Amino acid sequence: MRNGFGISMNKSEETISISNNNGENLLVLLEEEQRKSGYLSQEFITALAQSLDTPVSEIYGVISFYSFLSNKLQGRNIIRICKNLPCFLKNSELIIKCITQELGIKPGQTTPDGRFTLVLTNCIGACDKAPAMMINNDIYGDLTPQKITKILESYK
Ligand code: FES
Repeated sequence: MRNGFGISMNKSEETISISNNNGENLLVLLEEEQRKSGYLSQEFITALAQSLDTPVSEIYGVISFYSFLSNKLQGRNIIRICKNLPCFLKNSELIIKCITQELGIKPGQTTPDGRFTLVLTNCIGACDKAPAMMINNDIYGDLTPQKITKILESYK
């Protein structure tokens, strides 16, 4: 019998839970593997789907929904640039162009040396400092092209 996952929200704790009938939380399992291996391999996804008796497509659906999950090998540092309207209105396109030129990669790509992966993402909660981006867990706001080089240099 198929073991589907249901999504529930706990507003008081502002958490979203994706759990099956056995209480296994798919998001927690995916986060753990992402943290451990740096990405979610095809082998891991297939094995997880089998062990949870869940369609692979359901797991890919969750992975594609959350920008912090990836089924591609990622760089040591993940740059997430906000693509939403408040940042767009504050010239985030210029910041994206500056970073793509500096690193020689497009959004969704990783530098050949594995130093950076560039990702466009939804709001990172720093709208008051738009345009904003995250590198790993660090938030940078009020970005200008002049700030970008210095920020990138600080990540090895
Ligand atoms: S819209 Fe860009 S950080 Fe919120």
